[in-house]
Amino acid sequence: MRLCFVLVIMICSAGVAGAQTEATTPECAELLELRCTECHYLERVCKQVGERSKRGWKSTLKRMIKKRGAEVTDSERKLLLGCLSPPAPDIKKVCGK
Ligand code: HEC
Repeated sequence: MRLCFVLVIMICSAGVAGAQTEATTPECAELLELRCTECHYLERVCKQVGERSKRGWKSTLKRMIKKRGAEVTDSERKLLLGCLSPPAPDIKKVCGK
């Protein structure tokens, strides 16, 4: 009986750990759609996906936030930068690239 219980715990925690590693990727597209489609279509961002350097994206994000007024927190900005350069698989997917 006790062994059975331990097994269930092991299987459950393995399942949770697996879900967590997968969850980091879909977050990119989600965050982009959440924060970057308020003023323009995602297409505008997509056009530059895979084209722009990390430095370029850094200043684009900064401009969107400081000059255009995008509401993005510091940690979200860092996340997005990592998502855009190099482009995350789920971002390429939503952009059809
Ligand atoms: C508050 C409004 C607003 C939000 C939110 C916003 N943008 Fe923009 N974006 C603009 C405006 C206005 C322009 C056109 C003027 C310009 O390029 O600065 C633009 C243009 C762009 C362009 C095309 C110009 C270029 O540099 O290639 C890209 C790429 C872009 N935005 C990316 C983003 C990303 C990524 C986000 C999410 C972090 C975002 N935007 C969120 C207002 C916004």
